[in-house]
Amino acid sequence: MKILILGVNGFIGNSLAARILQETDWEVFGMDIREDKLDMCHGNAKFHFVEGDISINKEWVEYHVKKCDVVMPLVAIATPATYVREPLKVFHLDFEENLNIVRLCVKYGKRLLFPSTSEVYGMCTDKEFNEDESHLILGPIRMQRWIYSASKQLLDRVIWAYGFQQGLKFTLFRPFNWIGPKLDELAADPEKEGSSRVVTQFISSLLLGEPIRLVDGGLQRRCFTYIDDGINCLMKIIENKDERLNGEIFNIGNPDNEATIKDLAYKLKELFMNHPATKNLDKYSEIIEVYSKEFYGEGYQDINFRVPSIKKAKTLIGWEPKVNLNTALKKTLEYYLDSNLKVEC
Ligand code: UGA
Repeated sequence: MKILILGVNGFIGNSLAARILQETDWEVFGMDIREDKLDMCHGNAKFHFVEGDISINKEWVEYHVKKCDVVMPLVAIATPATYVREPLKVFHLDFEENLNIVRLCVKYGKRLLFPSTSEVYGMCTDKEFNEDESHLILGPIRMQRWIYSASKQLLDRVIWAYGFQQGLKFTLFRPFNWIGPKLDELAADPEKEGSSRVVTQFISSLLLGEPIRLVDGGLQRRCFTYIDDGINCLMKIIENKDERLNGEIFNIGNPDNEATIKDLAYKLKELFMNHPATKNLDKYSEIIEVYSKEFYGEGYQDINFRVPSIKKAKTLIGWEPKVNLNTALKKTLEYYLDSNLKVEC
């Protein structure tokens, strides 16, 4: 099988490509604007990489959609600060550029595995979000945070419609706060607030000895999923035994790993303070509260809780997550300490 991964250097892309190359005889064709996370892939004869931008290298992209069996367009902006500060950039990349790829899959009859998002559920009030039943609830237009959710939701609907009217084979998957090594770049400048997702933001602050900032008190909750669990699920989705995953949507998350952002901050700080490499520092980050208007800007609105139902993934895919929150945080922190302490010490 030949798999095209656009955005192969990203958090999900690099980890997925490495696993595919390690465990299968599938070939991976990848494009990305960077290649710094591909150390596990380079050198493998089944890995074919081109450094480039999907919005510029259109001929390469079209040729490879035609050549491959499965297409995974993973190029997207996924940091809430950018949704608020540069909503048009998010719309252009996450919606318009990805729509082109969807249409190429339709044109060449290719199977599309598309990353939807936990954010499409928005401020849904269900205890557990269900792929086929839950309502998708977004805030007003002036709250620009929702442009990411709305862009992804419309693409989900367009993909669904292509499946319904023109027979496109697709599976949509919705990651719920995946964390792990190579998640985001650590912010060199703590003033660049919100430039990465919460776990990497907190690890940056810990390494820099700067305050960890809890937005609006930090009582909002998320379910954190370890990357290896997520990749296990994606491997089964790619495999698609008996083609039974076509036309389906799956949450990929870990409902048992729910925590408030405040808990997360204290857990990470404790792991950091007990780690052999950092346990003897003179000073550690304090944990403070900040207002979202100051941290993200006026167009931010939060999601207070979001728990995935994973019944469908358990039944149809035969998958469930295994890594608990403590282990997931520990492994993520260790990766960043290993790769950054040379600079810090
Ligand atoms: C994320 C992003 O939109 C995407 O990465 C993705 O689609 C999706 O959710 C997901 O991973 O499932 P969110 O969970 O809000 O959205 O993103 P984070 O930036 O990780 O923030 C989580 C929470 O921590 C938010 O309530 C935020 O306000 C808070 N936060 C963030 C802080 O309290 N302090 C910080 O320094 C950063």
